[in-house]
Amino acid sequence: MNLLSILLFLLPLTLASTHPNTNSNSNTHHTSHPPPRTPSQQCPYPSTTQITNIWEKLISGDSVSFISHFRPMLSWTIMGTHPLAGHYDKLSLFIVNGQQRLYNSLSGEPTYTLVNVVGGCESEWSVQEMRMQATAKNGRILDEMNIWATQWDTDGMVVQVRSYVDAWSTTMIIHENEDWSDSSWLTNRTTYMPGPNGVDLGAVGREVGQSVADEIAGEMEG
Ligand SMILES: *[C@@H]1O[C@H](CO)[C@@H](O)[C@H](O)[C@H]1NC(C)=O
Repeated sequence: MNLLSILLFLLPLTLASTHPNTNSNSNTHHTSHPPPRTPSQQCPYPSTTQITNIWEKLISGDSVSFISHFRPMLSWTIMGTHPLAGHYDKLSLFIVNGQQRLYNSLSGEPTYTLVNVVGGCESEWSVQEMRMQATAKNGRILDEMNIWATQWDTDGMVVQVRSYVDAWSTTMIIHENEDWSDSSWLTNRTTYMPGPNGVDLGAVGREVGQSVADEIAGEMEG
């Protein structure tokens, strides 16, 4: 064999190995691979890792940054049967009627620990499991699990929350630490405190005279 015959012998083998699809199967085509998807294309909603990073802000005490991930107008339901339970369609209503009302009964702000994050990414709902710990003003230990089911929009903002809290702990903390319901015969009641439902001064006037009702009205305003 001379050199030319060796090359002619090897050439078909080389072609066959580099173009395997030209031989038999005409249905097989070389397809161009699409470019790799970016994380945002893979996850229209925040991923578990991104949600964990958002919750780290709450845990580290940076509540302003944490709450900036929530729409001011959203749907927030505090689940359960207790004084704070209910539906709030505004973040500020949840903050005042729910969270700050609870915090007012505590001796300091609670600490949160993130236990579990499930969902997000391709799912518009995620679930965050948190441990909340605090001491109430009267010394009662608050140590409970909170579950927040959150719905996200594609801008990475929370638009709906269903937060599950410990109803017994919440009830007892509020009951024992708010003057409206926490009182005894030893407490000197020196200011008008009609309760959450207010007072019907017309009924007071019919009972004890309009001049007394007017006097009460003046003191309550001042
Ligand atoms: C309530 O008032 C009475 C009478 O003025 C007083 O003796 C008592 O110490 C007061 N109690 C409290 C808890 O301030």
